[in-house]
Amino acid sequence: MTVATSARDASGADLDPASLVEAERVHRRAYVDPEIFELEMDLIFGRSWIYVGHESQIPQAGDYFTTQVGRQPVIMTRHTDGQIYVLENRCPHKGALVCPERAGHSRPFVCMYHGWSFDGDGALRSVPARSGYEGTSFDPKDPANGLKQLPRVQNHRGFIFASLAADGPDFKTWAGKGLRGLDNLVDRAPAGEVEVIGDCYRTVQNNNWKIFLDNMSDGMHTSFVHNQMAKAAQKTIARTAVRRPGGLDVAAMLAGEPEQMARMDLVAHPGGHFDMVAFAPPPSGPDADQYKASMEAFHGKERAEAILKESYHSVLMFPTLVMQQSLQQMRVIRPISANKTLLEIWVFCLKGAPESFVRRAVTGGNVGNSPSNVVAADDFESYYRVHAGLESPQTDWVLLHRGARQDVPQGSSIKGGDGNSEVCMRNMFHAWRDYMTAQ
Ligand code: FES
Ligand SMILES: [Fe+2]
Repeated sequence: MTVATSARDASGADLDPASLVEAERVHRRAYVDPEIFELEMDLIFGRSWIYVGHESQIPQAGDYFTTQVGRQPVIMTRHTDGQIYVLENRCPHKGALVCPERAGHSRPFVCMYHGWSFDGDGALRSVPARSGYEGTSFDPKDPANGLKQLPRVQNHRGFIFASLAADGPDFKTWAGKGLRGLDNLVDRAPAGEVEVIGDCYRTVQNNNWKIFLDNMSDGMHTSFVHNQMAKAAQKTIARTAVRRPGGLDVAAMLAGEPEQMARMDLVAHPGGHFDMVAFAPPPSGPDADQYKASMEAFHGKERAEAILKESYHSVLMFPTLVMQQSLQQMRVIRPISANKTLLEIWVFCLKGAPESFVRRAVTGGNVGNSPSNVVAADDFESYYRVHAGLESPQTDWVLLHRGARQDVPQGSSIKGGDGNSEVCMRNMFHAWRDYMTAQ
């Protein structure tokens, strides 16, 4: 793949991505410049492993789900051989989107423009008026005349990732310790598998995608941004006799003072990934004992206890996926432009867990992450204000100094001095710079 490696600023000067990231601050252009966004699509989203979807979304041959890998529209589908394929959603004839819907069932895929049809592995099945191609260089058996498979696809325990780049670090090398949130979600299923519950929620934020990712490790903001909502949730819980685990309980926890947030563990990993330990209550409620018993039956007592002790609130797999495994939720970003970001919110069912766990996860998703939730609306306003402020050209730098002198190396990772540290943001931007400057 040939890619550009620098943008130009308004004066026509080269805008070198390396100059936008320092040890403890980031230039505003890294967030708001449309040309930087275009470079990111090539250099980060065109090279990294991008989350596509979960295999439970397409249980039958012919089922499909469409999304984007960077700028590339793709179809994730299951073929008659039972395998999952990730195909370019682009007709080889004149380029039309073959599947404009977000999800569905189709065997074969038929392009609406001139009727070319394709199998679930992308192979060209038929071309109407075939005789018109006789004697031409068109070869129906050439894979280039089918729906192209993405160069690299990985199914990790049901989670499908793809890369637009044929070369680069393999999936496990790229994921590193970022995999622990995703693995812990699957491990929490007494039957050893998870599946999505229904469709995802989708919201569009009016901000750059990295402002959202910054916030994912920003413990400091909760006692300010969510204070009123959390106090209202606490009052409601105190007033009402009916408890709904996973709902207002989660919202109420966000009322912590900065001192409470400081007790969280923040650990930044190579590649921009991180994890944050907080807000992860152990399984509770009437079915908790039954759940723990099935976990021990599947994993053994010691292993089951170790799995349930892992209490990450958020684990980021840079650049697209934020796992909240103790809440059975996952958020995925699909950047649209420098100032618009699509967010998908998925809720998972732990196979083999009691039915109440499904209800708790759905309630938690509704309260904490859905478009009508009581928590993220305040976050979205903060993200919008940050982006709007950064559009102004007078002040250049975003500051990431907090905790920079208290970082504690842990092997190849870095632990923040406390939970209010900006260590994960610094680490993410250092990874961003590495992607943006790699040859
Ligand atoms: S563009 Fe698809 S068949 Fe012509
Ligand atoms: Fe928040």
